[in-house]
Amino acid sequence: MNVLITGGAGFIGTRLARALLLEGDSVTFLDNFSPQVHGSNTQLPVDLQTSVRLIRGDVRDESIWASALPGHQVIVHLAAETGTGQSMYEVAKYEQVNLAGTALLYDRLAKQPGHGIERIVVASSRAIYGEGAYTCSSHGMIFPQPRASAEKKAGLFDPLCPICAAPCTSVPTPETAPFQPSSFYGLTKQVQEQMSLLFGEVLGIPSVAMRYQNVYGPGQSLKNPYTGILAIFSNLARVGAEINIFEDGEESRDFVYIDDVVRATVAAIQSPDTTSFAVNVGSNERTTVMQVAQAVNRYFGEKSNIHISGAFREGDIRHGVADLNRARDVLAYQPSVQFEHGLHNFLAWAEESEPELKGYERSLDEMRQRGLLHGCI
Ligand SMILES: NC(=O)c1ccc[n+]([C@@H]2O[C@H](COP(=O)([O-])OP(=O)(O)OC[C@H]3O[C@@H](n4cnc5c(N)ncnc54)[C@H](O)[C@@H]3O)[C@@H](O)[C@H]2O)c1
Repeated sequence: MNVLITGGAGFIGTRLARALLLEGDSVTFLDNFSPQVHGSNTQLPVDLQTSVRLIRGDVRDESIWASALPGHQVIVHLAAETGTGQSMYEVAKYEQVNLAGTALLYDRLAKQPGHGIERIVVASSRAIYGEGAYTCSSHGMIFPQPRASAEKKAGLFDPLCPICAAPCTSVPTPETAPFQPSSFYGLTKQVQEQMSLLFGEVLGIPSVAMRYQNVYGPGQSLKNPYTGILAIFSNLARVGAEINIFEDGEESRDFVYIDDVVRATVAAIQSPDTTSFAVNVGSNERTTVMQVAQAVNRYFGEKSNIHISGAFREGDIRHGVADLNRARDVLAYQPSVQFEHGLHNFLAWAEESEPELKGYERSLDEMRQRGLLHGCI
């Protein structure tokens, strides 16, 4: 197969390309080497420089799609702006890259009968769920609305049952959960996913929306200060700088290792299923932010003080863990890498690069100035 990966030069794209090349596929990247992700490095990793065809271009450029699409059977659409917090003030940029960029893809496909595209895999996100699934002892499975700032300011971080306001417990979120994004990033991912599934049906192109959880591993951007808690904590822990934790540190995420994500994505590309669907891709393992900070700090010799700030950012969710039943059924997907092992691999890789510290402070200042970061850190 000839596979076009938009955003291919990024974290997931490069690892996916290596797996596809091993399968005997041909791979093309469409990527603008966004400076926020790549810094001043505008080259592919050496092992991909001759094996991948590279189109340097922007998904917001209508003409780039006309030249990029011919000759491919599969599109994996990964190019996106990815910062949850940043999306709350760089609203137009997120709309243009994530939504208008995707619309241009479908515009081109709709106007070009005989385009030859047989399958599209699009990167969705767990962010579309917002707070996700909980259980209430009286009301069973419930889906709390985004948390109110006033409650978080009062230190009440856990969502309550939307029906009886009783405390409730976070449980793995299935794909049947409603869309309730807490951030504009999540909203763009929701619409991007819906666009792909809609046009998948209309244009007869089976499409799969991958609802990735928090993906981590060697190769993730250490430069992008707007996303990637592991990258941020490892940059701080290496130089012994204080690690400030939002809320009370008990917020949790489903960290899924890059190799598991690549296996699931390859399975989606190769799926014989001719329908279009969305599927969670995670580890089903719940890890608190405090546990992450402690593990990263331990690896680097416990040089950093870990400070629980009580501060919070608009757009962040409290807990997230994926229900993987559908992924098992439709993609035969089972996560294989435990967080402890994957974290070790990531940190061993990260310590080979220079730590990047300046951008993170700037990203916090940007949110503070716009009233999107509350409390002192
Ligand atoms: N990494 C995660 O934890 C995670 C979780 C959920 C969803 N996702 C989604 O998966 C996809 C890939 O994520 P990633 O972690 O590899 O991100 P990444 O930032 O490492 O890679 C994104 C790539 O897209 C490129 N890009 C950005 N804007 C572009 C534009 N306008 N035109 C062309 N290329 C552009 C960047 O240069 C970069 O190479 C994204 O759509 C992201 O929203 C990622």
